[in-house]
Amino acid sequence: MSQQLFTLDYLDTPPTAVAGAEPAQDVRVSPATRTGRQRKLYIESYGCQMNFSDSEIVSSILFDEGFDTTEQLADADLVLLNTCSIREKAEQTVRMRLSQINSHKKRNPGMLVGVLGCMAERLKSKFLEEEKLVDLVVGPDAYRDLPNLIREVDGGQKAVNVLLSRDETYADITPVRLNSNGITAFVSIMRGCDNMCSFCVVPFTRGRERSRDAHSIEQECRDLVAQGYKEVTLLGQNVDSYKWASEDGTEHVNFAQLLERVARISPELRVRFSTSHPKDITDEVLYTMGRYENICKYIHLPAQSGNSRILKLMNRTYDRAWYEERVQAIRRILGPECAISTDMISGFCSETEEEHQDTLSLIDWVQYDMAYMFFYSERPGTLAARKLEDDIPLDVKKRRLQEIIDLQQKSSFARNQQAVGKVHRVLVENFSKRSQEHLSGRNSQNQVVIFPKKHYKKGDYVNVFVHTGTGGSLLGDAVE
Ligand code: SAH
Ligand code: SF4
Ligand code: F3S
Repeated sequence: MSQQLFTLDYLDTPPTAVAGAEPAQDVRVSPATRTGRQRKLYIESYGCQMNFSDSEIVSSILFDEGFDTTEQLADADLVLLNTCSIREKAEQTVRMRLSQINSHKKRNPGMLVGVLGCMAERLKSKFLEEEKLVDLVVGPDAYRDLPNLIREVDGGQKAVNVLLSRDETYADITPVRLNSNGITAFVSIMRGCDNMCSFCVVPFTRGRERSRDAHSIEQECRDLVAQGYKEVTLLGQNVDSYKWASEDGTEHVNFAQLLERVARISPELRVRFSTSHPKDITDEVLYTMGRYENICKYIHLPAQSGNSRILKLMNRTYDRAWYEERVQAIRRILGPECAISTDMISGFCSETEEEHQDTLSLIDWVQYDMAYMFFYSERPGTLAARKLEDDIPLDVKKRRLQEIIDLQQKSSFARNQQAVGKVHRVLVENFSKRSQEHLSGRNSQNQVVIFPKKHYKKGDYVNVFVHTGTGGSLLGDAVE
């Protein structure tokens, strides 16, 4: 969901040790809002886009409770870490960060520290025992309770709420957009996950799948358009199983229909979505994408493995032939230009060298535009942890991962080369990181395009002729 080309688990940068004030990379820190509220909230978010989105909901709830956000840890009255449990490394990163924050708290005992998100849900009150300086532990479905919990903490107690819900979607809460470029925004359309992929902790930390009221999604998108936003990404762990019905039962909306409703809000609004599950993505969704120019031609379709036996052990409920058929459907209905990306896991329980080769051959066959790649990390409580042996040595997992990365790099490069010599419609999001004379945006396929700015500005749609494809981005010139 982020724009980086590769995610290397073993390159996850640990928090720097400098004075205990620097957050790790791949972390979102709340920017400052200065509306004269009494107390200051510093919130750091780890993990996936859904967590980043939740931090915007938390900020909104606490804004109404008298908290401005700050980007300075030292200024904060309340420090919240919105945490991720997906791999062991993610949890280690948060623990290191907590110990840095705790040394701040020793110097500033009035500062309250809370843990939110998936680690809070996984470890529950154990957190308070393990990390004595944490005051507050709140799971992903309990954020409405934050004002009460903070009052308890103000009264000198520790507070925990990790109840999961079957219906909480925070539908009525307008997120405070943090780290926003004012052009692109994420809109959560569902929560939780009902799939039980054997490696995955998410069903345990996020609870049952539930879909948000379609009208509230449309309204949020309309409001974003009114504020000048040009792109929304509809978010869920498995968007293709979105399913909402009105209380009186007269209205039923599936994901294809929701996509269409959002796409019709304005032809100037780009629509993206993530994540699609290979077992659920329908031709109806693909045809809907084809009918609307403003639905971006980019599908994140995580395969996890290219081998059917491993996919079965992973409980992904599709096999390689099914996955290949879905890719062919994308190519047939949307053409070869539609970008496809994936997530891959190396070294899952009992994976042989031949089975690993199947993952490589799938990457070669699909020619993914982009991939997030990880080595398997056993998570306590998951089906795999209970039933399967984590028997692939770390060095083998890492070597296989490196082979996957090397091959994917070639594939990304080849896909970038295919974009050269063509004109792309680019939505400008920002200045280029390297130069204020260049703008940076993305085409429909989610490729980053950099070009000399001339008279163009953030939020413009610009036709750009691409002359060079590098590893990570495309370089070009605006055509009038
Ligand atoms: N709902 C999304 C994935 C969410 S988690 C989907 O079904 O595709 C993001 C990615 O993290 C997963 O796709 C998987 O590749 C990776 N992941 C999840 N659990 C993992 C584990 N235990 N070890 C290594 N990678 C894992
Ligand atoms: Fe995890 Fe599978 Fe659900 Fe994705 S679909 S969140 S990998 S259980
Ligand atoms: Fe997301 Fe990490 Fe939780 S990936 S759903 S924050 S475990």
